[in-house]
Amino acid sequence: MGCRSNSLSSPFSFFCCFVIVLLLLPAGSHGVDTLKRDESLANGTTLISHGRIFELGFFTPSGGNSSLYYLGIWYYGLPSRAVVWVANRNDPLVGVPGTLAIADGSLVMRDAGGGQRWTTNTTAASGGASVVLQLMDDGNLFLNTSVGQRARVLWQSFDHPTDTFLFGMRLTLARGARQSRQFTSWRSATDPSEGEYSLGMERTGEGSVQLFIWRRSTPYWRTGPWIGGRFSGVRVRPLSFYGWNFVPEDGSGSMVLSFARYNASLFWFQLQWDGRENISILDNSTKMWSNAFLQPSGECDIYNTCGANAKCTESGDAGKRASCQCLRGFMPQWQTTWAAGNWTGGCVRKAQLKCEMNATSGASVDDDGFADLRGVKLPDLSEWVIAATDADGCRRSCLNNCTCTAYTYVEGTGCMTWSSDLVDVQQFTDSTGYNIFIKLAASELADKDRIWILILIISLLVVIIFLLILYLWWNYKAKIKDWLKKSRKRGDTRLLASLGHVRQDHQAEFVSPAEFVDQSKDGKNSELPIFSFDALATATGYFHESNKLGQGGFGHVYKGILPGGREVAVKRLSEKSGQGHEEFKNEVILIAKLQHRNLVRLIGCCIQGDEKMLVYEYLPNKSLDAFIFNPSMRPLLDWRKRFNIIEGIARGMLYLHRDSRLRIIHRDLKASNILLDEEMNPKISDFGMARIFGGNQNQANTTRVVGTFGYMSPEYAMEGLFSIKSDVYSFGVLLLEIVSGHRNNSFHRTQDSPNLVGRAWQLWNEDKSLELVDPLIRSSISTREAMRCIQVGLLCVQDRANDRPTMTSVVFMLENEAMAHPVPKQPTFTLEGSPAETESVRPGCDTSADVTVTVVTGR
Ligand SMILES: *[C@@H]1O[C@H](CO)[C@@H](O)[C@H](O)[C@H]1NC(C)=O
Ligand SMILES: *[C@@H]1O[C@H](CO)[C@@H](O)[C@H](O)[C@H]1NC(C)=O
Ligand SMILES: *[C@@H]1O[C@H](CO)[C@@H](O)[C@H](O)[C@H]1NC(C)=O
Ligand SMILES: *[C@@H]1O[C@H](CO)[C@@H](O)[C@H](O)[C@H]1NC(C)=O
Ligand SMILES: *[C@@H]1O[C@H](CO)[C@@H](O)[C@H](O)[C@H]1NC(C)=O
Ligand SMILES: *[C@@H]1O[C@H](CO)[C@@H](O)[C@H](O)[C@H]1NC(C)=O
Ligand SMILES: *[C@@H]1O[C@H](CO)[C@@H](O)[C@H](O)[C@H]1NC(C)=O
Ligand SMILES: *[C@@H]1O[C@H](CO)[C@@H](O)[C@H](O)[C@H]1NC(C)=O
Ligand SMILES: *[C@@H]1O[C@H](CO)[C@@H](O)[C@H](O)[C@H]1NC(C)=O
Ligand SMILES: *[C@@H]1O[C@H](CO)[C@@H](O)[C@H](O)[C@H]1NC(C)=O
Repeated sequence: MGCRSNSLSSPFSFFCCFVIVLLLLPAGSHGVDTLKRDESLANGTTLISHGRIFELGFFTPSGGNSSLYYLGIWYYGLPSRAVVWVANRNDPLVGVPGTLAIADGSLVMRDAGGGQRWTTNTTAASGGASVVLQLMDDGNLFLNTSVGQRARVLWQSFDHPTDTFLFGMRLTLARGARQSRQFTSWRSATDPSEGEYSLGMERTGEGSVQLFIWRRSTPYWRTGPWIGGRFSGVRVRPLSFYGWNFVPEDGSGSMVLSFARYNASLFWFQLQWDGRENISILDNSTKMWSNAFLQPSGECDIYNTCGANAKCTESGDAGKRASCQCLRGFMPQWQTTWAAGNWTGGCVRKAQLKCEMNATSGASVDDDGFADLRGVKLPDLSEWVIAATDADGCRRSCLNNCTCTAYTYVEGTGCMTWSSDLVDVQQFTDSTGYNIFIKLAASELADKDRIWILILIISLLVVIIFLLILYLWWNYKAKIKDWLKKSRKRGDTRLLASLGHVRQDHQAEFVSPAEFVDQSKDGKNSELPIFSFDALATATGYFHESNKLGQGGFGHVYKGILPGGREVAVKRLSEKSGQGHEEFKNEVILIAKLQHRNLVRLIGCCIQGDEKMLVYEYLPNKSLDAFIFNPSMRPLLDWRKRFNIIEGIARGMLYLHRDSRLRIIHRDLKASNILLDEEMNPKISDFGMARIFGGNQNQANTTRVVGTFGYMSPEYAMEGLFSIKSDVYSFGVLLLEIVSGHRNNSFHRTQDSPNLVGRAWQLWNEDKSLELVDPLIRSSISTREAMRCIQVGLLCVQDRANDRPTMTSVVFMLENEAMAHPVPKQPTFTLEGSPAETESVRPGCDTSADVTVTVVTGR
């Protein structure tokens, strides 16, 4: 029903035309987001999306040649124009802008002389059907035709991107295809024509997919393969990289990369003309962009700076310069050029692998082995080995295949191998890297033996000295005892008596109890034993490997036996906590006062030099993850036990959040932090670590991010905001893991949901929640309890912190059957494509006193 149609006779259509004319004429095309047949865009008029976010029209790039005109889409109303799409990038109009109109089912741009310069090349099935152009709030430009009542999309700009990814776009990697569609950079900051960089997805091996930036078709930067919900080689904390979804498309076998928009803020994700990927966020009040992510940012980020089989370590003041080293067992291919700082040749093996030798010459050589390389970006050209399901199988599959040069086993995800030179290896200094194992000839591994011999000699010496001391002690026993008695007189002898009567010779290793000063100012005596380093070293067999119980984000845990026979777990904190001794001691004393049957008990601590250790009660059963993620152990935890565990964890968390005087936010609640006692009662460990490591919680300069992918709430992962509600989120994930026996982030391909949370929501929505329950225990479940658990779990993992229940209500909901529980909202991190409804509430920032906010500065 165009204005120039013959239907003006009807009063209604006359009114319609009047309105359209009113809208079009006075203020250009302000507020109009559609262009109909027979209308055109010319003389500086533009289309503006409904929510005033994007604008379509002719522009000249600022700072560029001001007589060149391009048709494009940009963010509406910003002081400096941010262009997201250009139609005629290689064919600008010279001198004057052109016109844009719909002609015969396609969108056509003409220059001032009337010549056609750009077209969508589309045709509408029925020529006369109304064709409409609409600019949407997500930046997509639709050309629709309506056949009867149904609108059909003829063309959309999201299918023809230029250099900017807009949220709502989907990057598809078709089944069997090697590469996705590509974004191509501008030629320069002011020239939109096609530049030399492009960005897209590429499949390198079975199931191994990464984002690449290419420079004239050779790799320039890569994200590393997609593993368990993130791109594994992106070193900065997830920030803008959290929220990516990479999931199979229904039925077609292709994979789709999309971004679930987390909040209403304006994101900018552009491949810049200089080859760098720029993710920025617009501050709506100041209209300024703040940079969230810029890669590559240093020489080491650039693809294969060091050549094959070498690793790149950042050096220099800003950490931007590269410094290259050959991997263990390799040497520079061209010694002189390498020494001169030309690394293009890369490195080659020093010794040939046995499996590559001919049968006769290799007979007398030892078998090949592996050397480990810690904390690196996974090299390019990896392949998943689906057959290998554990670290051992992975190692064997690599050892048995001569073409395999290295392997890694990613816990919870699978086995990866490399079958060529190791390319683009970067050493990470934070915890985002992976450990890989490189196959080397036995002769290259041998010098390890030499180190062992050295260690053996040194330990022999130590033993001899020790024996000497013992001999002296024996001879002068009486005198030393006398001296000890004197020094002991003043102190409280209680502790010494309780510990000392068994092994007299350990008495001296405990600091006198006079030092157990109460720091908490509440008058009561805290009496937290402070152990000396030597005492704990002795108790743990000098931190012997065989006594190692595990390894957490904060350090290794060893089993120890105190004099007197008491078994303890000693956690040796790995890094400096950034606190002074006094502060550390105060924190530990405070935390030691937290006592609850579902918390692991802290018995004491040790501070000596740089060494800081915590002494916990020892629990003989392993941590929860050893049970619920292990198919052979899963049946041991029937439904009743699992429900008890869930309740126990909830009560422990409730105590931390509400009942204890400290209001502890755990920040790293996960299956491996739940220990089980003999009766399978859960005990939360590692609580209070955030206090110890994060220091004062009101401090804004925390650089350490605690937390584990898969358990981090969206507001914590993206903005560093944490509150008791972030713990609730982690609890929700943990609950669903306990119920299902799957890790949240173990879905790396094939499954039709991105993660466990997504799957739980999907089943819940289809009213099939019970299918989530671990099939190995389905016979023992109580249907109502299971339904309740899953509902509570979904309530806890909602996106908005304010929607999530507190632990008080969680405990109440778990224990009370009769109550009608609220209905959970969809967790958007599982959304595919469709952007979440926009929100303006800052999670974690409500005014209740429960909430603590810390800004975590990323690197
Ligand atoms: C644009 O302006 C010129 C002259 O001012 C006029 O002749 C022309 O019709 C206008 N075009 C449109 C589409 O309004
Ligand atoms: C601007 O572009 C026109 C047409 O391509 C060209 O003739 C002119 O020299 C350019 N001016 C500058 C400053 O580059
Ligand atoms: C339309 O077709 C012409 C001729 O085949 C081609 O040059 C042009 O690039 C096409 N335009 C688009 C937008 O695909
Ligand atoms: C065009 O199609 C898209 C996608 O179906 C739809 O969102 C949009 O509202 C349509 N616009 C018009 C004007 O029909
Ligand atoms: C990233 O893009 C924004 C928006 O265009 C821009 O303001 C900013 O300067 C860019 N950052 C860098 C480092 O180029
Ligand atoms: C930006 O702020 C304006 C008011 O200043 C508001 O109308 C608009 O909705 C905001 N946009 C977004 C995306 O939040
Ligand atoms: C590095 O060495 C290689 C081989 O010798 C040579 O081809 C290349 O030009 C050198 N590159 C530089 C930057 O000197
Ligand atoms: C192994 O045998 C092949 C052919 O028999 C020969 O070309 C090659 O040099 C031999 N390699 C070694 C390491 O002896
Ligand atoms: C060894 O590995 C290569 C590359 O991954 C693979 O093509 C080949 O089939 C493997 N050979 C065996 C025997 O598994
Ligand atoms: C949206 O997220 C960004 C970054 O994650 C944050 O800076 C901004 O404050 C958030 N906006 C709202 C309205 O929550």
